Amino acid sequence: MTHSLTIRRPDDWHLHLRDGAVLNAVLPETARHFARAIIMPNLVPPVVTGVDAAAYRDRILAALPDGMGFEPLMTLYLTEDTDPEDVAAAHASGLITAVKLYPAGATTNSASGVSDFRKVQNVLEKMAEIGLPLCVHGEVTDSEIDIFDREAVFIDRVLDPIRRATPGLRVVMEHITTKNGVDYVRANDTDLGATITTHHLIINRNHILVGGIKPHYYCLPVAKREEHRIALREAATSGDARFFLGTDSAPHIDPLKENACGCAGCFTATNTMSCLAEVFEQDGALDQLEAFASLNGPAFYRLPVNDATITLTKGDAVDYPPKIECDAGDITVFDPGFPLHWSVSA
Ligand code: NCD
Ligand code: ZN
Repeated sequence: MTHSLTIRRPDDWHLHLRDGAVLNAVLPETARHFARAIIMPNLVPPVVTGVDAAAYRDRILAALPDGMGFEPLMTLYLTEDTDPEDVAAAHASGLITAVKLYPAGATTNSASGVSDFRKVQNVLEKMAEIGLPLCVHGEVTDSEIDIFDREAVFIDRVLDPIRRATPGLRVVMEHITTKNGVDYVRANDTDLGATITTHHLIINRNHILVGGIKPHYYCLPVAKREEHRIALREAATSGDARFFLGTDSAPHIDPLKENACGCAGCFTATNTMSCLAEVFEQDGALDQLEAFASLNGPAFYRLPVNDATITLTKGDAVDYPPKIECDAGDITVFDPGFPLHWSVSA
């Protein structure tokens, strides 16, 4: 039996750090275990231009505690007014690693996102030309489409047409939650990858709704039926290089989660690697954890793998704080619903 596992230091290919007091509180939680992360741009107002991204990167680096290393990989928030030349310049200077597409109204702070996808075609073509990946929040927003079907419908109605219209565009389907997402990635060899979150490997929709509503399990895309969770686990633990970790750790202070109109987002930065070790062990796939968390992401983004390592050690149940304190209010840490036995050391 494996009791200790040393892997390349992981990266998080989808992370929300926010700003101000929340940024200060959550950044060390990620930097403790992760070398780099793709930083989501859905601030209020969003990170739209290269100038915005440079300023946000500076605020992140200023919030990093002394002695901690961490590289934020910046993204731009795609709007119908985005200037392809600004995107190209931000990419050429090394400032940004991806552009993020939010369908307008799909999720937290997505009001400035895209309603008419034809209006961003010029940006997408520029991105295909320069090899800059597009990270996609893959849910339609039409009110007549059931929320549990929105990812599957997005693939057919939006994503596939965009990819056909833009040959060479490199796309990451972010936080896939369905077997449909897994199958779509598997059926398309080139230029397509997908991130999978920690929590979608662990919870299905029953965890949110049975026995009382659990606001800390509510996120978008919302967790689906068990068959979908199983498909995600098979993809994550398979070693297939097209699937990699993007935690979508999305902090909201407790008063905004425990609310009559609670925000979407699970905060998993603190215990993600312990959760994943437990999941991969449950599935007899600990030998694939490094591929999922540390190798497949850099390969897709054409970046070097980290030189440093972390070691996961199995022992008595690991203590992690149930909440992170923050000047703006406490932030509840994701509860996987089972004890965690794998501790992480750098
Ligand atoms: C994210 C957030 O809070 O910014 N929420 C979430 O439920 N995942 C936005 C997102 O990634 O959809
Ligand atoms: Zn997200």
